[in-house]
Amino acid sequence: MKSKKQILITGCAGFIGFHLSKALINSKKYNVYGIDNLNNYYSKKLKNDRLNILIKNKLNFKFSKIDITNKSQLNNLFKRYKFDVIVNLAAQAGVRYSISNPETYYKNNINGFFNILKLSQEYKVSHLLIASTSSVYGNNSKFPLDESFNTGKPLSFYAATKKCNEVMAYSFSNIYKLPVTAMRFFTVYGPMGRPDMSLFKFTKLIQENKKIDLYNNGNHIRDFTYVDDVVKSIIKLINKKPKNKIPFRTLNICSSKPIKLKKFINEIEKNLNIKSNKDFKPMQTGDIHKTHGSNKKISKLINYKPGTNIELGIKKFIKWYNSYFNL
Ligand SMILES: NC(=O)c1ccc[n+]([C@@H]2O[C@H](COP(=O)([O-])OP(=O)(O)OC[C@H]3O[C@@H](n4cnc5c(N)ncnc54)[C@H](O)[C@@H]3O)[C@@H](O)[C@H]2O)c1
Repeated sequence: MKSKKQILITGCAGFIGFHLSKALINSKKYNVYGIDNLNNYYSKKLKNDRLNILIKNKLNFKFSKIDITNKSQLNNLFKRYKFDVIVNLAAQAGVRYSISNPETYYKNNINGFFNILKLSQEYKVSHLLIASTSSVYGNNSKFPLDESFNTGKPLSFYAATKKCNEVMAYSFSNIYKLPVTAMRFFTVYGPMGRPDMSLFKFTKLIQENKKIDLYNNGNHIRDFTYVDDVVKSIIKLINKKPKNKIPFRTLNICSSKPIKLKKFINEIEKNLNIKSNKDFKPMQTGDIHKTHGSNKKISKLINYKPGTNIELGIKKFIKWYNSYFNL
């Protein structure tokens, strides 16, 4: 019988990493290894709660608290488990936080990322999947955003580090023939989501009858993508490593159904049955007016595109939020 593939998920206590690890464990097709440094960028309790759900499953999940900037610890892990596939989700995320804390992004997303890349090459990993972002498109004004568009002008340092990741990985694919898929996620949301992201922030403030800061009159447009759809896409991609001469590809992971933030807030209000109190603010530095990705390339490759609509996605989030906080 064919033995199970060894898969490493970095950032497994994070939002996407948790959902992905959980789905991989449940599929019973992989031996799942997770690492995370459990940093305090946002609620450690939420990260530990996610992790505890994963750890309950002792049979095919192993966790180690490892920082990807620690090369020797990472090296020991790679040596011991001989991973077939790596999904690198560990990073300092967030556009706005990168305005005041660029050093953190440099350390985790550049130095840490390099360790993952180098070890994947040294240990001949068969497929490395890396997290990139829609933010690499900057202020492109043609829509939908297509993978072939220019991404050389990132508007935030966060986006700059993610673009660097793509470029670094491309060179490793070229030189060492390391198969890499760079996944450009578009505003992922869902249950157990990040407290620094709009859905969580707005829900909390509206629920507590506090004012919400609404930038650009709520006219920002975002291609919100439901987390289960993102996870399904990643799982299908794992077995579709690029096989070109330079085995590297970038892929949008998006719903391709953009909506205005105003409508998004309406949906939250509807589900909470509370009207929001808005504080209108101007556009912020580094902010992007619109994201709307094309998912043609990925749907051709894996015959799947994210389909959960925003009404259902927000409903599921609020249901989780209310039960998590006993409301
Ligand atoms: N959520 C989104 O909408 C979105 C959009 C675009 C890109 N991304 C990217 O996808 C990935 C996952 O995002 P997320 O929303 O799950 O974020 P998250 O912050 O919830 O998850 C990241 C996890 O990585 C861990 N981590 C950070 N630095 C680390 C380090 N040096 N060593 C080990 N662990 C470390 C954190 O503790 C966290 O648990 C990130 O790379 C992010 O930049 C996310």
